[in-house]
Amino acid sequence: MQVGIDAMAFSTSRYFLRLDTLAKNRNVDCAKYCIGIGQLKMSVFPPNEDIVTIAISAAQKVMARLVNKNEIDVLIFATESSFDLSKSAGIYVHHFLGLRPDCRVFDVKQACYSVTAALQLARSFVKDNPDSKVLVIGSDILKYSAGSSGEPTQGGAAIAIIVAKNPRLMIVEQHFSTYTTEIMDFWRPIEEGEALFDGKLSAQNYLQSLEITFLGYLKKSDLTPSDIDQVCFHAPFSKMAIKARNKTFADKSIDDTLIYNAIIGNSCSASLYVCLISLLDNSGDDLDGKRIGLFSYGSGSVAEFFSCTVVSGYRHMLSAEENRKMLEDRIEVSFEEYEQFCKNQADPGKKYANVGSIRMVRVENKQRIYERRIAG
Ligand code: CAA
Repeated sequence: MQVGIDAMAFSTSRYFLRLDTLAKNRNVDCAKYCIGIGQLKMSVFPPNEDIVTIAISAAQKVMARLVNKNEIDVLIFATESSFDLSKSAGIYVHHFLGLRPDCRVFDVKQACYSVTAALQLARSFVKDNPDSKVLVIGSDILKYSAGSSGEPTQGGAAIAIIVAKNPRLMIVEQHFSTYTTEIMDFWRPIEEGEALFDGKLSAQNYLQSLEITFLGYLKKSDLTPSDIDQVCFHAPFSKMAIKARNKTFADKSIDDTLIYNAIIGNSCSASLYVCLISLLDNSGDDLDGKRIGLFSYGSGSVAEFFSCTVVSGYRHMLSAEENRKMLEDRIEVSFEEYEQFCKNQADPGKKYANVGSIRMVRVENKQRIYERRIAG
């Protein structure tokens, strides 16, 4: 029995900041951001949007691919930007989607790696329970401190994946190689809203982890690099993925994988899968039956190289036009509005646009209150 990704969708903020605007205001040559780092825009989030609201938006899109929402037996929410150390963010999603009360819900965390962990867990679960479907969500909003070298690599998005038998999009293959090492390359202590990092160490460890897991994958699978048709990397910023490609698959273009990432920024746990959707949506090649190698990296650190094969007829399961429109229709913010968003300050005279049907209206007694948005 084949198990894998039956459907996949993503959502990001309705707002973005151009990186040349950021460069101008930080007195940096904009070529450093646009060419050196490879990023053109980044998603920025208004005060009424958070990891739950964007996750619900992505989940609603993917659930539209199912005949019956009651088919979901498990919901796994992967995030490194949770606002609660106890309650699972997945419970809000479960509530607003109206999933069955006996659906199992929990969060997982390991920096940007967590969706891959959740995907593999889901795959094993469906192998044991072939009639079950699992909803895997990855949702992150990444903030670095103002003026830091990480600032141009902020971003955020949510990905929603349905894992099922006889998938209509991609089969997750059995071979994988993981690598875990204790390293302080990127972390966010409980009291901090912004991530702390050692940029050079993180890039070094990312590439070393890629080398180890890629060799491990080839050894375990008995495959050679020429058996892999396409490759997709976790992209904290586009140049990092290009460096990864140069180390492993210098003969292959990864441009199609980076189209969305270059204008969204680092979406952490969702990043690899946003890159995967970008490839499927934008590749001019027919990917039917092609093997795609995937590299997932989460600082701290855990990495995994694994592969998927694309199912024949996969194009019917894509929403390329909808995705492009979502990104094209975003609203540009000025540098001043960006600074306000960073401080999570609402402009009392402004009604903010949301990507989905749920918005976060206030925090009351340290509880987040969400409500359904009235259309219009
Ligand atoms: N024109 C063109 N290119 C320029 C330029 C200019 N005027 N000025 C600089 N550049 C180039 C540099 O040559 C360099 O390119 P190479 O890496 O190819 O040499 C690139 O722009 C970046 O320049 P610096 O190295 O000087 O930049 P920096 O010190 O400001 O830091 C960074 C860049 C390390 C990516 C920083 O943004 C950062 O630390 N980001 C956060 C951490 C991160 O994302 N790490 C990635 C691995 S960890 C991970 O993957 C997990 C995760 O999601 C966080």
